[in-house]
Amino acid sequence: MKKKLKILMAFSEVAPFAKTGGLADVGGALPKALKDLGHDIRVIMPQYREVNERRYILRDVIRLQNISVQMGDESLQIQVKSAFLPNSKVQIYFIDYKPFYFREGLYVDPKTGKDYSDNAARFILFCKGALETLRKLQWQPDVIHCNDWQTGMIPFLLKKKHHDDPFFTKTFTLMTIHNFVYQGIYPATSVHLLENGGIADPSGYPIVEDGTLNFLRTGITDADWLNTVSETYCREVQSSSEFGCGLEDLLKARSKEFDGVINGLDETVWNPEKDSFIETSYTADAPEGKQEAKRLLLEKVGLPYRPDVPVIGMTSRLTSQKGFDLIQAVFPKLMELDVYFILLGQGEARYQSFFRAAQKKYPKRVHVSLTFDESLAHRIAAGSDMFLMPSLQEPCGLTQLYSLKYGTVPIVHQTGGLADTVKLYDGTKNKGTGFFFQKPDPEKLLEAIRTAVQVYADSTRWKQLMFRGMTEDFSWSAASRKYVELYQKAISKGL
Ligand code: ADP
Ligand code: GLC
Repeated sequence: MKKKLKILMAFSEVAPFAKTGGLADVGGALPKALKDLGHDIRVIMPQYREVNERRYILRDVIRLQNISVQMGDESLQIQVKSAFLPNSKVQIYFIDYKPFYFREGLYVDPKTGKDYSDNAARFILFCKGALETLRKLQWQPDVIHCNDWQTGMIPFLLKKKHHDDPFFTKTFTLMTIHNFVYQGIYPATSVHLLENGGIADPSGYPIVEDGTLNFLRTGITDADWLNTVSETYCREVQSSSEFGCGLEDLLKARSKEFDGVINGLDETVWNPEKDSFIETSYTADAPEGKQEAKRLLLEKVGLPYRPDVPVIGMTSRLTSQKGFDLIQAVFPKLMELDVYFILLGQGEARYQSFFRAAQKKYPKRVHVSLTFDESLAHRIAAGSDMFLMPSLQEPCGLTQLYSLKYGTVPIVHQTGGLADTVKLYDGTKNKGTGFFFQKPDPEKLLEAIRTAVQVYADSTRWKQLMFRGMTEDFSWSAASRKYVELYQKAISKGL
């Protein structure tokens, strides 16, 4: 190993402490893989109400109590606690500031379905608080690894506000963008919080553009190195405004410092051989238990068990980006096939009502859970035969990786990380791990589902298809080595 690196990883969510999506899965797994490579890795996140202090044994740290963080003309006092990522020696710090973080939702108020109106302040405090924590710890990381818009002010603060502060002169930044759709765009007045004492006129402030403060744009501008979570998505976001969401020109301008690194899968959490949620166990070489997982899943959701009828599963945030308009368009035709459809998801009201109605219409074949349920997510991964993921855009996608690992064959749109992780089934050569459709068109999606259902009827072929998916290597070890290279690039660039 080259030099042992000191890395602070900043995440707005980390599994199992608090989670809304795949970002948390990465936050819970990548730090452990990097630690296994011998680096000094620490993580920092906000202490939301969802973080269970007792279960995860959060401890007070004397020198991290009552840290003052200047937010405009106000000084706020944060507490920082510490724990370990489960089954590891990776230390994680929690920024505790109850007025901001001790709430029911992470970003969205479940009562209104809307983003909290003070999210800009909440995440400026997180960014500033992370830097103040380092100072109190007297720990100078080589790199602060920022993830998504919530951490976007860290590169700016380091480069533009602390540039002549000797404590931070040898700390550089990597900004990982997990999804360009979410940028954290707020009124320009929020920049008031970035300056000690505040500012009278935000309009002339350097990072204000078009009257707004864009966290992600700011992070991308000032980070020493950038990456996103698959090679294909890395190309897509530079090639059109549809994917780049307005940041494509900035990304193109930095394309030499912008890489794509595919995520891995945490085998301590997602593994059909030892998954405590599924009450059965199986492997690629002994897959018999999968049928039992299917029976248990159907029983759990109250559908009759018919072993030869394929179960199409989905676990997903209910947003248009995930392709739900396509699913709605094909749904009546999908129901003409003899299949089960099981969905677990939370999100937009229009999709929720559509699926509620679908369940009512097809009560013997459709089950919909509009909740967040970790246990059901595992049962769906294990007990389904096929996993549907028709995302219009998918930066990486983790659920298709989980499905492959559990012998649940993915049906995906060929985009982003889906294109990079699923291999197209080829009937003549008997190769591949899943089914694709190329154009985001309902007819094409239906065609892919029909092909999957046909192949399913040939149980020998289907078993071979499952086996190929289950034996692919999606461990974090390869990806974590690539992150070490990115850290080194950030350091060389920043020096
Ligand atoms: P994204 O991060 O865009 O939502 P990913 O595929 O990367 O998509 O990751 C989604 C993660 O969130 C997976 O771990 C998935 O199991 C989980 N997930 C999504 N919706 C739910 C839900 N309603 N209940 C439980 N887990 C969910
Ligand atoms: C984002 C993306 C998803 C990715 C996850 C983790 O939420 O939407 O594709 O897998 O981040 O990187």
